[in-house]
Amino acid sequence: MSGDLLSARDVQKSFGAVRALGPIDFALKPRERLGLIGPNGSGKTTLINCITGLFPPDEGTISFRGEDITREPAYRRARRGLSRSFQIPRPFVGMTVLENLLVPMDYLRAGARRGAERAEEVLQSVGLYARRQDAAEALSQLELRKLELARALVAEPLVLIADEAMAGLSEAEIDDILTLLFRLNETGVAVVMIEHIMHAVMRFSERVICLQTGRIIAEGSPKQIAADPLVQKVYFGEQTHR
Ligand SMILES: Nc1ncnc2c1ncn2[C@@H]1O[C@H](COP(=O)(O)OP(=O)(O)OP(=O)(O)O)[C@@H](O)[C@H]1O
Ligand SMILES: [Mg+2]
Repeated sequence: MSGDLLSARDVQKSFGAVRALGPIDFALKPRERLGLIGPNGSGKTTLINCITGLFPPDEGTISFRGEDITREPAYRRARRGLSRSFQIPRPFVGMTVLENLLVPMDYLRAGARRGAERAEEVLQSVGLYARRQDAAEALSQLELRKLELARALVAEPLVLIADEAMAGLSEAEIDDILTLLFRLNETGVAVVMIEHIMHAVMRFSERVICLQTGRIIAEGSPKQIAADPLVQKVYFGEQTHR
């Protein structure tokens, strides 16, 4: 649709005989805060992998700012302003926190600022500046999550897709990450929050999409989603949820 920053149309992905995703349509507006929820294995990460170019979808089209990027490699999409953080943070071990940000700078879009100064600015913004010379493997769980976000943010993206950036954190730490994502959004970055921590998604999102077995079963405001009978059945019915 015109006005969309990012969209996916009729996207499908199977792994062998398992249809992990779709067909599914998805759209994100500039500066939007979108929540993506659904039980384990419902296709959230697969959708994001197709969108960010980790692998192409079997069918369908992905567009960014009106251009077809379906077959484009991930680094080209990153250069366009499409960033993601991974569900399981894997920092470069044997490198400092600062060096972890310098590595992805080879893949930035034209015009993006580079170098240690820019990296330090990002570390400042996520609250990791004091840790910049420490080894990545010395970081706490919260700091690792922040480093994972920082690595996605050095590219100065237009979209950040955060795949379970709060998993395993305490309530205070969840608040910390939420504040960080709100602040980022205020600078104009659209944020897709993939999350199992329901109160965080509901607080953060303007719109929520719920997946089940690779299809959208509900979409609406946090209020509408919380009251949706299908969503309630998925989360509180016979389906198990971690
Ligand atoms: N690389 C892969 N190879 C084979 N099957 C896969 C692969 N990635 C995902 N799947 C399968 O695709 C389906 C969707 O998985 P996906 O990881 O997208 O779910 P998810 O919604 O992100 O789940 P979670 O909340 O646990 O992260 C699952 O059945 C999963 O087992
Ligand atoms: Mg996932």
